[in-house]
Amino acid sequence: MLSVALPKGRIAKETLEIFEKIFGEKFKFEDRKLILQTEGFKFLLVRNQDVPAYVLHQAADIGVVGLDVLEERDEDLVRLLDLGIGKCKVCVGAKVDKKIDYSMPEIKVATKMSNIAQKYFSKKAIGVKIIKLYGSIELAPLIGLSDVIVDIVETGDTMKQNGLEAVETIMESSAHLIANKNSFIEKKEEIISLYKKISNII
Ligand code: PRP
Repeated sequence: MLSVALPKGRIAKETLEIFEKIFGEKFKFEDRKLILQTEGFKFLLVRNQDVPAYVLHQAADIGVVGLDVLEERDEDLVRLLDLGIGKCKVCVGAKVDKKIDYSMPEIKVATKMSNIAQKYFSKKAIGVKIIKLYGSIELAPLIGLSDVIVDIVETGDTMKQNGLEAVETIMESSAHLIANKNSFIEKKEEIISLYKKISNII
């Protein structure tokens, strides 16, 4: 029995579709339920950013999570496979009509991903003040809370609708299959077998 942490939303649905293809069973969470127990798996529905914590503390043996979240949290986990779903980019966004003034001693950056943002600007030797937000990041430069944002771009619609544009790409992301280090030893056969089955169909 493997327990699998899935991030709520589209990635959970698409991951369950992969499992359905492999095992020929229907895997569907009942309305509002957060646990789906089947013969071989226990699926847990959690917040995207919480997947690494569930897997790190072995509340789940494996999990599916965006590379962006893995980079942001930088936990000691086994990265097994790129599932090629949930593709997006982490970008620096700025107002369309306003060039970023790199001569400023400190650029204010609003973001959910403070570690990724801090690392990126440090490498470029650009001084930044990180303003940690939890959502609606695109609002920040519009009302002067920040000069730029670092955020996820999927279709680009949210930035466009708010008069922003992606000026730099920090990283490309997609959903990855991860495993807890101990589970990977204790349940190696099960995990490797699943890994192979998934690799074969993606
Ligand atoms: C994410 C991200 C952007 C948006 C990008 O937000 O933070 O706001 O999606 O998608 P797009 O390029 O297709 O428009 P999310 O929907 O997770 O909501 P949040 O702002 O509350 O985090």
